[in-house]
Amino acid sequence: MFDKNKLTGADISIDFCGYHLQSPYILSSGPLCYGAEGMIKGHKAGAGAVVTKTIRLGAAINPVHHMGTVNNDSLINCEKWADSDRLNWYEKEIPETVAAGATVIGSVGHTLKEAQAIVEDVERAGAHIIELVSYTEDTLLPMLDYTKEHVNIPVICKLSGNWPDTVATAKKCLEHGADGLCAIDSIGPTLKIDINKAAPEMMSGDGYGWMTGAAMRPIAMRYNYEIARNHPELMNLYASGGVMKAEDAIEYMMAGAMGVGVCTAGILKGVEYVEKLCYDLSKKLKELGYDSVKDVNRAAHKNFPKKEYVAKLDFKFEPFKEDGVTKKCVNCKKCETVCCYDARVLDFPKMTVDMDKCRSCGLCLDVCPTGALTAVTAPQTAEDLELERKSKEFYELVK
Ligand SMILES: Cc1cc2nc3c(=O)[nH]c(=O)nc-3n(C[C@H](O)[C@H](O)[C@H](O)COP(=O)(O)O)c2cc1C
Repeated sequence: MFDKNKLTGADISIDFCGYHLQSPYILSSGPLCYGAEGMIKGHKAGAGAVVTKTIRLGAAINPVHHMGTVNNDSLINCEKWADSDRLNWYEKEIPETVAAGATVIGSVGHTLKEAQAIVEDVERAGAHIIELVSYTEDTLLPMLDYTKEHVNIPVICKLSGNWPDTVATAKKCLEHGADGLCAIDSIGPTLKIDINKAAPEMMSGDGYGWMTGAAMRPIAMRYNYEIARNHPELMNLYASGGVMKAEDAIEYMMAGAMGVGVCTAGILKGVEYVEKLCYDLSKKLKELGYDSVKDVNRAAHKNFPKKEYVAKLDFKFEPFKEDGVTKKCVNCKKCETVCCYDARVLDFPKMTVDMDKCRSCGLCLDVCPTGALTAVTAPQTAEDLELERKSKEFYELVK
């Protein structure tokens, strides 16, 4: 059970849509939120809020099979919305979860007709916030307009990265009065084939499914950054997509999200994993020099490049730790292996780099498991500036 007294670093509570949440982790709409039992578990593990499985006019009937892995940190699924009747959500699942002390976000989809039939009952059932989710941008805005007119609790819109212009839709939602945003929903349609059966793994009508987890994080990262950058005043933004560890959450916060959804990580590691995410986040934020989530929000914005930058990397290799005896480099040679240009040779404790071959791509730094190999960007030389000018010229030439 999450205990805030066990936090060893930064304050991880956040303010979101007028509520004070115990952590920025929002247990996203999904199989862990099929009912009160799962949502209460999430709350006890430290989730700042829990989102109900999406409530629609009818209960979902799911095909078999409808969930599978993609590598070991991502999923494909063709699971539908909530598989129990909406009355059950109003009478049991939402009130029980609220009574347990959780902040409950009622997810409502996917059409205007359904929003009209459901949102007021979700508010009456005790939900603190409503999250609207739809298949297309065109349906989301009418759903939002109706909901804003008929409920008094905050309303957030869940955006999809599969839409033609998600960032423009974010703007429209805010203009139509959305109190907050969630970016983004699962990516798809996607496909996985079981090679033993020579058949799609998902038994949806077309064999396709939706991808979640680590694989989608860089896509969702870009949306969160762009939305946060375009709306500097927006504090009620929560990211969804591939938060597998505390560092991922910090990435999103630096990009501009205040909260972070967790779905795939909770499915693969158990919902209790949220507790570890909380303690790790507090510790890591402090290590990085931040006292709170608010403190780290948008921290990376000022460091985004204003232009393409041409220069060389100035490498530093430290085979040993400060004592000069303990090995810092573990001689795994990953830096050598990933060098596509054969520029790097490690003959422990000596490393040589042929700077005529090295393109300063930076991959060797990313794969070094211990930080023995680091680099800073060297100051631009006259030659670099000339190359930068030429690179710019190329784009003009091919216009
Ligand atoms: C099996 C499964 C079922 C899901 N069902 C819903 C749903 O009913 N409504 C919804 O808005 N999102 C649903 N999602 C999407 C998640 O809420 C979340 O946005 C997405 O999984 C990305 O986050 P993650 O990488 O942390 O999993 C589902 C995801 C999974 C994996």
